[in-house]
Amino acid sequence: MDGMRGRFVVLAVTGSIAVYKTIELARRLVQAGATVQVVMTKGATEFVTPLTFQALTYRPVEVEMFAMQDERAAGHVAMGRQAEVVVVAPATAHVIARLAHGFSDDLVATTVLATSAPVIVAPAMETHMWRNPATVENVARLRARGVRIVEPETGPLASGDVGPGRLASIERIAAEIEAALSVSGALSGKSIVVTAGPTLEAIDPVRYVSNRSSGKMGYAIAAAARDAGAEVTLVTGPTALTPPAGVRTFPIESADDLKDAVLAQLPRADVVVMAAAVADYRPIETATKKLKKKDLGSEMTLRMTENPDVLTAIMAARRPGTIVIGFKAETGEATAEAGRMLREKKLDLVVANDVTDPRSGFGSDEDRVAFVSADGVEQLPVLAKTEVARRLVAKLAERLAR
Ligand code: CTP
Repeated sequence: MDGMRGRFVVLAVTGSIAVYKTIELARRLVQAGATVQVVMTKGATEFVTPLTFQALTYRPVEVEMFAMQDERAAGHVAMGRQAEVVVVAPATAHVIARLAHGFSDDLVATTVLATSAPVIVAPAMETHMWRNPATVENVARLRARGVRIVEPETGPLASGDVGPGRLASIERIAAEIEAALSVSGALSGKSIVVTAGPTLEAIDPVRYVSNRSSGKMGYAIAAAARDAGAEVTLVTGPTALTPPAGVRTFPIESADDLKDAVLAQLPRADVVVMAAAVADYRPIETATKKLKKKDLGSEMTLRMTENPDVLTAIMAARRPGTIVIGFKAETGEATAEAGRMLREKKLDLVVANDVTDPRSGFGSDEDRVAFVSADGVEQLPVLAKTEVARRLVAKLAERLAR
């Protein structure tokens, strides 16, 4: 845990039997040189006394919202402001629900709401509660906002059941904390434009041509860049996702709109990531009135014309030094195609993705990608899209530092 020395970690502890593991986590963080400020819910104090944490962290533990030393300095939000990372471990179903809905009725919830640091949530609960659609929805909400969820592990639970719900190991939680601390600040002061999702090319007022892009990759990149301290603009086609908090979002529909939106942002961009699945063609004509079967007959021909290539337009208009990243989704030979695109369009990096891999690509939460650049081909294993996004952001930080 080399990255912990001198860092300020807020450890929010909530009422679960798994709290005994958090005691060990606090001890290890302190040993690794971090300053650990523990905040407890009342429920947590039923399982372990604040004194235990205080003795290990050498700092007073906070429980009550307005009992802090100096409320004149808005003590109830100070903790969140000071934090370099906020870790909620163990997180009960109840606290996850409250965080998902932005409550601020105790110090743990207020700290999470007031912080702009990365937030890590390590759930621990009984299997049925973890699988309940309410919890599933709440966890998805947090994730969409960029909260890092350390998935619980499967095994025997305090209830006697066996299933997912056990608090993740201390090693996994500590690794997540280190990862969060290592990216935070890596892109501070940088401006990044990310495109995401499909484009939608209108046939008539009610019909369109589009593709299967879910937008998950682009949204994950936007969130990861935000976590790294960048100022992020997300230009997005229609998706079912909630835009990450703290990111300026411009919804678009057609490739033409996307091009205009990106070019408008280009002068201030240090990086452009073209993760959108831009439609290559659009109907030559968009009917102003809904097309009718009685006019079309038994066959319909849709004539299409090529859309502008946004990457080419960006490369022509960018200031020198702006890093431009393309994506290449292919059914086979993705890396070779990506290499060709890298050279032809003179891009800085292409993310190649073979969509024939069943665990990878459109709609999935995971991806198997390769980073293709002048440095060569870096093939990654199957990873969560959020992890691919973090690694891409780390790569960007490295390049910007060169
Ligand atoms: N792209 C773009 N403008 C377009 C189409 C795509 O900027 N009109 C971008 C995408 O955002 C992505 C990359 O180009 O970053 C995809 O490259 P492309 O060669 O268009 O991929 P495919 O459409 O898959 O290519 P093809 O159909 O020719 O195999």
